[in-house]
Amino acid sequence: MKDQIEVMISEKEVNAKICELAEQINEDYAGKELHLIIILKGSIFFACDLAKKITVPVTMDFMSVTSYGNGMVSAGKITVTKELDEDIKDRDVLVVEDIIDSGNTLFHLKKLLLARDPASLKIITLLDKPEHRTADISADYYGFQIPNRFVVGCGLDYAQQYRNLRYIGAVIQD
Ligand code: IMP
Ligand code: MG
Repeated sequence: MKDQIEVMISEKEVNAKICELAEQINEDYAGKELHLIIILKGSIFFACDLAKKITVPVTMDFMSVTSYGNGMVSAGKITVTKELDEDIKDRDVLVVEDIIDSGNTLFHLKKLLLARDPASLKIITLLDKPEHRTADISADYYGFQIPNRFVVGCGLDYAQQYRNLRYIGAVIQD
């Protein structure tokens, strides 16, 4: 059966927000080189759109992680399923996420990356679901704070589908 999807954030709003975020980043990282760490797979669309609007020199690397123990905060651990290609020591790193939900994944990922001694480490996420947060983590930059609903599009999937939608849609559960 086809899922019903309701537009939550339009393509126009998403694009405008990405421009705003890029402007802020260009200001904050003026005179520096920015190393983007893109968390696969959900963040690729956001990361590409954002990177195209960044005017400071940018390099990109990719990482894939899975988290276990969802629902049990203390048991939350991550496994790296695709490791970075490059060292991040002494680099200004910006981790690009699609959405922060419980925050579990990012909480553990941040610890792991900080141990590699970057010059700085910040987090950007397109979407933030603060109501559902259980881990002590927040983004340095976010696009939109959204209510606790399951969303798709702009890289986010439902059973691997809908990543290519140009807007953020909420899946209507029946
Ligand atoms: P967290 O560890 O709970 O913050 O998990 C974040 C990850 O869960 C995201 O990177 C997404 O892959 C996935 N996720 C959380 N909420 C949604 C959603 O509404 N739609 C699609 N994926 C989601
Ligand atoms: Mg993700």
